[in-house]
Amino acid sequence: MPTFPPSFLEEIRNRLPLSGIVGARVRIIRAGREFKACCPFHNEKTPSFYVNDAKQFFHCFGCGAHGDVIGFTMRFDRLSFPEAVESLAAQAGLQVPRDTPVAREKFDKEKQLYQLLDKATAFFEEHLFSPSGREALAYLRKRGLGDDAIRRFRLGYAPNDGQALLRKMTGEGYALDDLIAVGLAKKAEDRPDSYSFFRNRVMFPVGDSRGRTVAFGARILGDGEPKYLNSPDHALFHKGQLLYGLSRARTALTQGQPIIVVEGYMDVIALVEAGYSGAVAPLGTALTEEQIQILWKWLPPPDTRDASRDYSPILCFDGDTAGLRAATRAVERALPLLTSSQTLRIATMAGAKDPDELIRQSGKAAFDSLLKQALPMIDVLWNLALAGRQMRTPEERGAFKTALNGRVSQIKDEALRELYRNEFKKRIDDAFGWKPQNFTPRQGGNWKNAPPAPFLEARRSPQSGQRVMEKILLALLINHPDLFDEFGESFAGMEIRTPEFEALRQSVIDHLSQIHDTAPTADELRRALSENAAQRERESVFDYDRDVSVLDEILSPETYLHVQAARPEVALDEARKAWLAMWQTLEQGKIKADYAAARASYREQPTEENERRMKALQEQVTQFASGAE
Ligand code: UTP
Ligand code: MN
Repeated sequence: MPTFPPSFLEEIRNRLPLSGIVGARVRIIRAGREFKACCPFHNEKTPSFYVNDAKQFFHCFGCGAHGDVIGFTMRFDRLSFPEAVESLAAQAGLQVPRDTPVAREKFDKEKQLYQLLDKATAFFEEHLFSPSGREALAYLRKRGLGDDAIRRFRLGYAPNDGQALLRKMTGEGYALDDLIAVGLAKKAEDRPDSYSFFRNRVMFPVGDSRGRTVAFGARILGDGEPKYLNSPDHALFHKGQLLYGLSRARTALTQGQPIIVVEGYMDVIALVEAGYSGAVAPLGTALTEEQIQILWKWLPPPDTRDASRDYSPILCFDGDTAGLRAATRAVERALPLLTSSQTLRIATMAGAKDPDELIRQSGKAAFDSLLKQALPMIDVLWNLALAGRQMRTPEERGAFKTALNGRVSQIKDEALRELYRNEFKKRIDDAFGWKPQNFTPRQGGNWKNAPPAPFLEARRSPQSGQRVMEKILLALLINHPDLFDEFGESFAGMEIRTPEFEALRQSVIDHLSQIHDTAPTADELRRALSENAAQRERESVFDYDRDVSVLDEILSPETYLHVQAARPEVALDEARKAWLAMWQTLEQGKIKADYAAARASYREQPTEENERRMKALQEQVTQFASGAE
């Protein structure tokens, strides 16, 4: 049994108020010196679960559940004791004493899982070249892959027999639970047994940054849905933090090859076979910020770079609408992070082709010339802002400038942002100095680089809308504290997605739920909140240092522009109506987002459970829509 020094556990309890940990997971309400909530450990409608920060424990009068912050985390997050300690230590910013039994246990466990995944890879490889894999092998050959490529990428075949892998692996002493843990096996929903998650599919092992198999992409033979099944995330695999082909690309980079980000497994393979060993692809999701950062992190330090070489990774997504949209999203994600030493280039594929097809149909030379034409970020932003606009009137040109500025202001690096601004100013002066009637997107000097229309369909981030709605709700309540009587409960329970607003929400609740005091007026509340914020800033145990400006941002003319009724001088009844309307919109948005997410997971892993969830949410969306009329 792993042990930790008692002083260390004490430190965790002191650093993490229990109400914070509980409050982040269930809705809690202040009740005198304690907090109460509906017990998360049994089903109840009225709260009998109490949290006492001073005594550092929780207790449920309904079911008797009782414990401290570690016990709560174990039960709620379903963690073992050492895991709960690790997780809380991380939240408290504490270093777990090294070389603990936990660390050793974890290391041994991981070693076992790596072995298991490697064995499974070998199992699939073997099957590809066995009689049962005949069709799969033929499929790969038809797609132009020779045995060399198949071996190099360790491609395999998962047999149709849902027990074959399990028999083989458990026969060699691997635990079924471990197969389940890494997503290779699944428990049947209606029967007591388990079966292989991947059946009758071509297997693409996904290596981690050191090339060890951690996951699989599994393609259907020929047409059908879903085209690919992917391993779920697990202890060794986080799909947002890894790319297909990563370990090879790293070597390639040191050998002078460009990093090329493509969309698909097959694209990576085709490119590597054609000699571009710097090819990588995300793993069944949109390119994440973390993935971009990984690629940048590898680049040599700026002062050691060869000045004649462009090191920036090239995004080379499919030429269809989905690919163009994915590229746009990647650009938007990268924009805030750009510096003069970490940037991207975009190569746009013509027509609905992907790199795999292009190379096979038109050869390496065609792909080479595509890479040479990759656009630097400055041109990409220009084209995005252009967004199929006409430039006939001053208004249209003004709108274009505004769009351009919006993009540029996303760049956080001040020096680079200025350089972009200046460059755009120059381009605009040049362009608008021309005869304006020439300015249609597809004609004339500066516009000619504009990619086809779909690339230009940039969407505003939905996040920004959410943030505004949260701001409005906070402003309504702060300026009209009387609303708390009616809406305090929903306010306390609402999901706030803007992390900086969370502390402020908590303060609002603290002030308004002290029943023994007379309710504060709006003025008193605002003063108290800004004092709180200043106080927290001084103490700054956690990262609350932006509280003061957060309050200013919320109670700003900009917020009131969105909803007039959020102003302090507006009558309570009007504020109340505004609250209800905003609340409805917010809830509806959330259900829609949840539904979209559920649909995506179902597409990726069409299990019965995912289907049920998707359908349930779909119904909610419909209900909400009809109820709202
Ligand atoms: P593509 O459909 O472009 O796949 O999806 P591809 O790799 O070019 O495959 P082929 O050429 O049709 O065989 C790009 C990537 O998106 C993910 C996979 O990672 C795929 O490689 N994807 C796609 C999924 O995860 N699930 C799907 O159902 C489809
Ligand atoms: Mn393809």
